[in-house]
Amino acid sequence: MEYQILHPSVTDGVMVLTISRPQALNALNSLFFTEMDHLLSHLPQEVKIMVITGEGKAFVAGADISEMVDKSQAEGEAFSLAGQAVFRKIEQLSIPVIAAVNGYALGGGCELAMACDFRIASTLATFGQPEVNLGIIPGYAGTQRMSRLIGKGNALYLMMTATMISADEALRMGLVQKVVAPELLMEETLKIAKTILSKGPTATKLVKEVVNLGLAMDFDAASKQEAQRFGSLFKNEGEVGMRAFLEKRKPTW
Ligand code: HXC
Repeated sequence: MEYQILHPSVTDGVMVLTISRPQALNALNSLFFTEMDHLLSHLPQEVKIMVITGEGKAFVAGADISEMVDKSQAEGEAFSLAGQAVFRKIEQLSIPVIAAVNGYALGGGCELAMACDFRIASTLATFGQPEVNLGIIPGYAGTQRMSRLIGKGNALYLMMTATMISADEALRMGLVQKVVAPELLMEETLKIAKTILSKGPTATKLVKEVVNLGLAMDFDAASKQEAQRFGSLFKNEGEVGMRAFLEKRKPTW
């Protein structure tokens, strides 16, 4: 499939996926979801980690408002569910997914960033859930992800007031993990990607799986599935890594 909005490029196992519809500040339209769904279902084996970013002054300025305005109640619900399914696919990819937030991450754009494993932001990035300005609420499961990520008070503050916050404020709230100068955003993100790629690949995959599965469970069940996966690394990658430590050398995974 030829992509029009998504521009994937792969180097050394890292796919940088650029959302490119800058004339509309990369607002997410139905073509975006078609392309993203296709891309996620056809990721080449060589891709070990994904970085999502936006072209121009926005990461993503939200869902495309012009596509939503005339929808009926049933269409609105279906629209939300369809977008949620694609974001869930991103969240459930077995490889790490990092958001490199270059500019506006508003509404559905902030929701997309939250569906990634973590977020590195440029000082030019702005975050917000301005849906109530439009008489709607976040619909790509952002209400759920945001309250889990930054706590109910911070989430409701952002969602009720539609306040746009800077990257530094987002860092303070725990919405992003690191803030860097705009010209260093990709370099720093790729450095982090490389660090992750140097770790035990199965352990990296399992740590994501365990956290995501556990968040949907009660504490005891969540801890149990952690122990089960912990055990699965023994006589396996875990032995390689621990033996290397004891022998004072680097592991070869
Ligand atoms: C459609 C959008 C858009 C959006 C920007 N554009 N955001 N089009 N949907 N979400 C378009 C503008 O209409 C304009 O098109 C062009 O992009 C440039 O935008 P400007 O407003 O001229 O730029 P600027 O003055 O720099 O303002 C930037 C901005 C503003 C502050 C980010 O664009 C803005 O407030 N955008 C809307 C943000 C928002 O409300 N997002 C949440 C959407 S609801 P033209 O053709 O005039 O040049 C949502 C729900 C998700 O995301 C859940 C769904 C299930």
